[in-house]
Amino acid sequence: MEKKRILTGDRPTGRLHIGHYFGSLKNRVKMQNEGIYDPFILIADVQALTDNFNNPEKVRKNVREVAMDYLSVGIDPEKTTIYIQSLVPETAELTVFYANLVTIARLERNPTVKTEIAQKRDIFGESVTYGFLGYPVSQAADITAFNGELVPVGEDQLPLIEQCREIVRKFNSIYGEVLKEPEAVLSNTKRIKGLDGNEKMGKSLGNAIYLSDPEDEVNRKVMSAVTDPNRIKKDDLGNPDICMVYYYHKLFSTDEECKTVCSECKEGKRGCVACKKQLAQNINKELNPIREKRKYYEEHPEIVDKILKEGTAKAREEAKRTMKKVKKAMMLDYFED
Ligand code: TRP
Ligand code: SF4
Repeated sequence: MEKKRILTGDRPTGRLHIGHYFGSLKNRVKMQNEGIYDPFILIADVQALTDNFNNPEKVRKNVREVAMDYLSVGIDPEKTTIYIQSLVPETAELTVFYANLVTIARLERNPTVKTEIAQKRDIFGESVTYGFLGYPVSQAADITAFNGELVPVGEDQLPLIEQCREIVRKFNSIYGEVLKEPEAVLSNTKRIKGLDGNEKMGKSLGNAIYLSDPEDEVNRKVMSAVTDPNRIKKDDLGNPDICMVYYYHKLFSTDEECKTVCSECKEGKRGCVACKKQLAQNINKELNPIREKRKYYEEHPEIVDKILKEGTAKAREEAKRTMKKVKKAMMLDYFED
């Protein structure tokens, strides 16, 4: 049976944190190991530049950081193709062709883009760039260049896949059935809140634990987590449901530990400091093997580069094949026989 092509990716604007871990990385490793998929992961440096065009150093540096994060959580380059977006220029070329098939009004109505533009007022002010407004078009190129069939996404990214499907249908109706319409797979993973209780975990919010954080950093961050504000003394009765420490216990501690945390907290038999220490310990236990693998890649950057080069070369071959079909369909195959 033909293996199903999966496409996923991340913008390399920072190292990956435990929000990414629970939100997508674990799922990618799981799917990779099921043996029925052919996963491609793109490090979306071109897309990262759409809102970081004034900070190329940041994007450049984080391409390798993100690659090391992938490898350290168990993305296996033997099973998953990892590639750098900008080194597959066919996707940029496709983006230009697709741009004719999308209206500006449609892009402006895309809920994902709309939300992001609102969040990025500091970068764009009142008027967004052409590049950022159009990133769903470029993402459609990323997916279709590799005949992506399945795109695992969080709920917030669904409109991007819908837009891609519209582009594919339009392309195929004008130029012939060339492109594959991808399907979004809603991963049953969850969005993880930040240590401060914010819905989003992120660098700018200072509320994230990174996969590459050393132990003492994790300890320090956990100590700063927001707990039940009504608990001042140890024997105050607590409400774990409004405590971020309990929230994270549910991700990193055993069911039994969680039960104990919950009942002791409610009965006022548990100190918050001890509770945090236990959590930090469990997080560190989970992160230790990841740190160890990461250390290996940090010490061997040439291996990381080799993996990226080989993945990119393989991806490019595939994108070239698609490009050939696209150009033929669009009557742009001038000197082909
Ligand atoms: N939009 C994704 C993000 O915000 C990155 C991305 C770019 C992507 N192209 C893609 C994801 C294609 C899946 C498929 O991180
Ligand atoms: Fe939160 Fe634990 Fe303190 Fe209860 S005891 S408020 S769960 S940190």
